[in-house]
Amino acid sequence: MGRLDAKVMLVSGGGADGPPQPGEKFAMGNGRAIAIAGARQGAAVMVADRSLAAAAETVEMIRAEGGRAQAFEADVRVEDSCRGAVAAAAAAFGGLHLLVNNVGIAIGHTLQSPSAEFDRAIEVNVRGHLLMMRYAIPEMIKAGGGAIVNVSSVSAVRGGGVSYAASKAAIAGLSRAVALAHAKDGIRVNTVLPGAIDSAMARRLAGDREAQVAPQIPLGRQGTPWEVAKAVLFLLSDDASYITAVELLVDGGVAARLAYA
Ligand SMILES: NC(=O)c1ccc[n+]([C@@H]2O[C@H](COP(=O)([O-])OP(=O)(O)OC[C@H]3O[C@@H](n4cnc5c(N)ncnc54)[C@H](O)[C@@H]3O)[C@@H](O)[C@H]2O)c1
Repeated sequence: MGRLDAKVMLVSGGGADGPPQPGEKFAMGNGRAIAIAGARQGAAVMVADRSLAAAAETVEMIRAEGGRAQAFEADVRVEDSCRGAVAAAAAAFGGLHLLVNNVGIAIGHTLQSPSAEFDRAIEVNVRGHLLMMRYAIPEMIKAGGGAIVNVSSVSAVRGGGVSYAASKAAIAGLSRAVALAHAKDGIRVNTVLPGAIDSAMARRLAGDREAQVAPQIPLGRQGTPWEVAKAVLFLLSDDASYITAVELLVDGGVAARLAYA
């Protein structure tokens, strides 16, 4: 018995964009780990990604374990793509109960970065989450309720690149507002804030940063995409049936740490 048996789950950014770890066939990112972990818990998973090839790799990994999944090409900047991803999930698996908005990009690092980079960060990181929820929630209402997890970052509460931090903080406000608006529909909306995760994204942007960042993290190491996935699955599952409108840090304690202590 899985915790998500009979559920249909849509993961945006369910591929992975970066180099595989030595010895691994495919890269592992947060979105991919969430999709695979959801399938292991019994969900049928629609893997949406702007890269159909990346989504198809995730599907291949899920099917290799006997899980159910399909790939869908969707760029969250495009409203019709978001509508299409929701429709495809419902058509393929007979409804929609769970949504994870995992897409996130880190651009526009300084105040002097081009304004277009700020706009793009908001478009992808915030508006994309909004659009996916706009179309997913009516399907969840049809299904009698559901749960959403929006992926933010510790940068929402502890700084980081200018546009990234602003967009990741906005996700928390967006999630709370949607959670309050749709609690009456039996839909829970929560936000997960990963810290330093040794993911495809991190390796693409910063290489192997373990030695550099581990000493700054109270638990003494980076997290793994699987540890992010566990938190996301908890919030999606009935184990979190009385939890909505919260932000859950998955950061090894880093947000609690005083730099001078
Ligand atoms: N790795 C970390 O240290 C860390 C820390 C905090 C938060 N996060 C957050 O985790 C999430 C990403 O993690 P990941 O490891 O899955 O990253 P990733 O970069 O591998 O991204 C996952 C997928 O998103 C897809 N994607 C990018 N732009 C898209 C778009 N416009 N539309 C649709 N798909 C798009 C990519 O093709 C990729 O397959 C982001 O929200 C990121 O901000 C990561």
